[in-house]
Amino acid sequence: MARRKYVVGNWKMNGLADSIGEAQAIFAAARDHAAVDVALCPPFTLIGAMAAAVPGAAVGGQDCHSATSGAFTGSVAAPMLADAGATLVIVGHSERREGCGESDADVQAKAIAALGAGLSVILCVGEPREVRESGDAIAYVLAQVAGSLPGDFDAARLAIAYEPIWAIGTGLVPTVGDVAAMHGAIRAKLTEQAGATAAGDMRILYGGSVNGENAAELLDAGDVDGALVGGASLTAAKFLPIVAAA
Ligand code: G3H
Repeated sequence: MARRKYVVGNWKMNGLADSIGEAQAIFAAARDHAAVDVALCPPFTLIGAMAAAVPGAAVGGQDCHSATSGAFTGSVAAPMLADAGATLVIVGHSERREGCGESDADVQAKAIAALGAGLSVILCVGEPREVRESGDAIAYVLAQVAGSLPGDFDAARLAIAYEPIWAIGTGLVPTVGDVAAMHGAIRAKLTEQAGATAAGDMRILYGGSVNGENAAELLDAGDVDGALVGGASLTAAKFLPIVAAA
């Protein structure tokens, strides 16, 4: 199965009700790029409104709990995301792995819960700066993949996002060669864990300071099937050039 390009905006903790117009503009213009799958992951508070404002659009959460319900104050379960109109969810973002102490096992449990709720999953991995500088980035990321990937899953509904932590929001990006090497290594690991057919179907996104200027080069790198975009996804003016480059 040929892999379609996938460009996903992660709004992080940004956006109020008046941001829905920006999402409408993004999804409307994205229709001109029929070969690219486009999704937006706003804060939980905007999922319902965004999904209702743009019927059929791929709207997602940025995290979910691994349980389906219960006494977990402040958390949101995967079935709740689906109920609100989400069709996908990001799990294992470094801002949650580092900021909320999420382990590979936690991320795996969240991915399993999300898939069980019928959502697609974007499972994030990525190394901190010191690991990149020590030359151990590939081994570090492959260990994250091994520890976070569910044992059994529908490859069409699970994508990996490689996001070097030192590239997030910094304006720094790895060389295209380093991105291709990492994505190739992830693909090989997926083949080992899930088999060649599943690995060949799975999309591997790059994330970290993607913008309209660098997107074409990054998206053209070997085994790069799209982008997970933070800051540049907040406005149509900055996000659409990335979609156009995919
Ligand atoms: O989820 C998105 C990534 O953390 C990338 O964020 O594009 O602002 O560097 P950024």
